[in-house]
Amino acid sequence: MYNKSNKAKIAVLASGRGSNFVAIQKAIDRGEIAARIAVLICDKPKAKVIEAAREFGIDVSIVDSAGLSNDEFDKKLVAELKGYAIDLILLAGFMKIVGRPLLENFPGKIINIHPSLLPSFKGLNAQRQAIEYGAKISGCTVHFIDEGVDTGPIILQSSVPVLDNDTEETLSARILEEEHRIYPEGVRLFVEKRLRIDGRRVIIEESSC
Ligand code: GRF
Repeated sequence: MYNKSNKAKIAVLASGRGSNFVAIQKAIDRGEIAARIAVLICDKPKAKVIEAAREFGIDVSIVDSAGLSNDEFDKKLVAELKGYAIDLILLAGFMKIVGRPLLENFPGKIINIHPSLLPSFKGLNAQRQAIEYGAKISGCTVHFIDEGVDTGPIILQSSVPVLDNDTEETLSARILEEEHRIYPEGVRLFVEKRLRIDGRRVIIEESSC
């Protein structure tokens, strides 16, 4: 385990653009989170997030899923993560479903950000789902991962209005601003050991210092 002199080691798993990855690294650089991103693991060799990680001088590991079953891919991820002695795994636009090998090896240590107010609009294209449904409010959710898709205990949420003239792009941009605010905040709470999972609920403990 880590203590104050020994910073928490984070792995970010991402497949795409990487704006949440950057938001978290910037919060670390500002001294808001006592942790370091030890590795970015990416399943897409051409993803934009890889360039961002390299600019920050963060190790990049490309774990290709081609030809592998979900289970085999997960086991490869576990081996990679164990090599880095990771304390916390962050999914940030990771386009794979996390399976048993990861969940069993890192119980209560995998967090995701989803662009809706869960449990509404799970799965892909959550912003489009919110518009098509006619929701007046949407937002984003930071949550622990469990065996379901977007079903794990909720850590933080933030809401934004859905405007009459919103497109998927404009709503996504409004939600993304909130993602960049609450994802680093959720990571900080985890790193400070202030999150206690009690059934479906996540209790945020008072800071001890
Ligand atoms: C975000 O909207 C996040 O909520 C979802 O995937 C997107 C990733 O964006 N899980 P980025 O790669 O962090 O820019």
